Amino acid sequence: MAKQILVTGGTGYIGSHTVVELQEKGFDVVIVDNLSNSKIEVLDNIEKITGIRPAFEKFDLSERELTDAFFQKYPNIDAIIHFAAFKAVGESVQKPLEYYRNNMGSLMNLLECMNKYKVPHMVFSSSCTVYGQPDVLPVTEETPRKEAESPYGNTKAICEDIMRDYCASNESVNCIALRYFNPIGAHPSALIGELPVGVPNNLVPFITQTAAGLREELSIFGDDYDTEDGTAIRDYINVVDLAKAHVVAIDRMLSGKSKANYEYFNVGTGSGYSVMQLVKAFIEVNKVELNYKIVDRRAGDIEKIWADTTYGNNELGWKAEKTLEETLASAWAWEKNVRGLK
Ligand code: NAD
Ligand code: WQD
Repeated sequence: MAKQILVTGGTGYIGSHTVVELQEKGFDVVIVDNLSNSKIEVLDNIEKITGIRPAFEKFDLSERELTDAFFQKYPNIDAIIHFAAFKAVGESVQKPLEYYRNNMGSLMNLLECMNKYKVPHMVFSSSCTVYGQPDVLPVTEETPRKEAESPYGNTKAICEDIMRDYCASNESVNCIALRYFNPIGAHPSALIGELPVGVPNNLVPFITQTAAGLREELSIFGDDYDTEDGTAIRDYINVVDLAKAHVVAIDRMLSGKSKANYEYFNVGTGSGYSVMQLVKAFIEVNKVELNYKIVDRRAGDIEKIWADTTYGNNELGWKAEKTLEETLASAWAWEKNVRGLK
């Protein structure tokens, strides 16, 4: 029988792409999402891509009783991929308690239910934000974590610690934290992608919305960093490659290949690109115009980070495959589809 995977936050950006990859590999998916940052129509598009409509339950995972009732209704879940969280760095500074309650409360409810309902495996969405500005680049999994720059970042560090401590106390629970670098792009079908509410905080959605005419101009935050062209450097990972890393992590746990019952891996490409390189690549690949100007640095931004992916590549047998050009083309195809542009 197909293994059944609970995908929390499965109508969201990374979750929806992961649901597609899971279904294409024959997993039976159940999504839980409260639609606080996604739309129910995503289910239609997952169905268009895969031919399968995943089961869907709408509720808030920070509600303990509702989470418990879910596991009573679905007694055969084999593993969980836990994406559901609030993720806006700036908003987390304004509303720290909402972030701590949502992000940590949901994880703790799920861990308690894993014990109670005998669901052994969980993959958790962590972030390269736990490294802050590293002293040495690229970052390996051994690179020390730094104090978080925001309440959002702190929720990721604390959630990692909660999983580490819980796994140490309970041998029958098995967790993998994936530390994503900067996920960008969209499914090649252009049927699912990133759909931020309001003005985008992240670079690529701001670029695509500017190219689509929704925003007048992209602001590039700082050109006086210690990098070749002065703009900040990140490791941009294609969202479909990232989604595939989750399937691999699930396979690792289900087939008993984990080396410890708590593991964590970097998920990036291993290459860094500057903001200016990315902007120029976007213009060139998509043959579009893009208004941009250089402005002051954004508060809280780090200068540069990219992943050393050696450990993850070797252990998981997974590697990012898509090129930056392909990824930026997919981001633009998705934006055009959403806006009804040719
Ligand atoms: P997203 O907002 O698109 O998806 C998250 C989904 O979770 C949304 O559909 C939202 O409605 C749902 N959700 C939030 N709180 C919930 C709750 N209490 N109960 C039920 N559903 C809830 O975000 P994303 O970009 O797909 O990110 C997924 C995960 O990856 C998050 O944990 C995020 O912190 C992490 N992450 C994201 C990035 C990134 O740049 N996108 C980078 C590193 C880590
Ligand atoms: C990338 C680069 C900006 C917008 C954030 C979170 C991090 C992780 C990923 C979840 C930076 C520059 C951006 C714009 C710009 N998320 N930029 N103009 O800040 O690396 O990471 O998302 O865990 O925790 O902090 O991503 O896409 O916002 O920025 O010049 O309008 O683009 O300064 O150098 P970031 P980003």
